[in-house]
Amino acid sequence: MLLKNTLWLASLTASLVAGYPTENSEFAVQLKMQTTQLDRLGSLDNNGKWFFNFTAQSSYVGDPGSVVTANVATFPAVIGNGMSMALITLAPCGMLPAHIHPRASNYVVGTKGSTRTYFFEENGARVVLGTLNPGVMTIFPQAALHTMFNDRCTESTLISALSSEDPGTLTFANSLFELPKDLISSAFGADMSLLKNRIPALASNAIAGTRDCLARCRRSGGRR
Ligand SMILES: *[C@@H]1O[C@H](CO)[C@@H](O)[C@H](O)[C@H]1NC(C)=O
Repeated sequence: MLLKNTLWLASLTASLVAGYPTENSEFAVQLKMQTTQLDRLGSLDNNGKWFFNFTAQSSYVGDPGSVVTANVATFPAVIGNGMSMALITLAPCGMLPAHIHPRASNYVVGTKGSTRTYFFEENGARVVLGTLNPGVMTIFPQAALHTMFNDRCTESTLISALSSEDPGTLTFANSLFELPKDLISSAFGADMSLLKNRIPALASNAIAGTRDCLARCRRSGGRR
């Protein structure tokens, strides 16, 4: 466990866009190899293996927020069921930077607070935007570029369903700089070589939002 965490931290510093390792990969492989769901039920042999407590996961972070996902890497019971589920928590002004899920459509419903959403599907599309208040959902189509922002001074939470056991996440700001800097600069029409070091790390998948929001919430006492 210690070794695994050390390797994970090492890979985080090596790349701004590290993914999350499979927590119990031997068990996951065993479930994947089984022929039928009844066979899998034999391995998922106590009721606890069918329940996932989002707030008990180490990836759950209150500030700036987090995305805690029950997928093949974290919750073996999803294997064979074709979906993942995530709890999104956004502190006052917290946001999820623009990202895509390469292998899943994403349905998101607000459960607390208020969250602004934006997506852009492909070249030539238009931005679709709106606000997720409790009981309201939207869809981010598979591989659409999307971002979410809590512009209020109270926490927001959302439930996010993904149409793959292994949806994947690609966050644009962080991923772009894996490519050669001079090519990135040409694409932006400006020297981007110093920008990479300023991009927030994605430890919990959420980051602090806009300066305007943070200043407004500090003034109103809604933030430290
Ligand atoms: C889920 O985990 C949290 C944090 O460990 C704990 O406080 C809570 O009681 C758990 N909920 C259930 C229903 O087990």
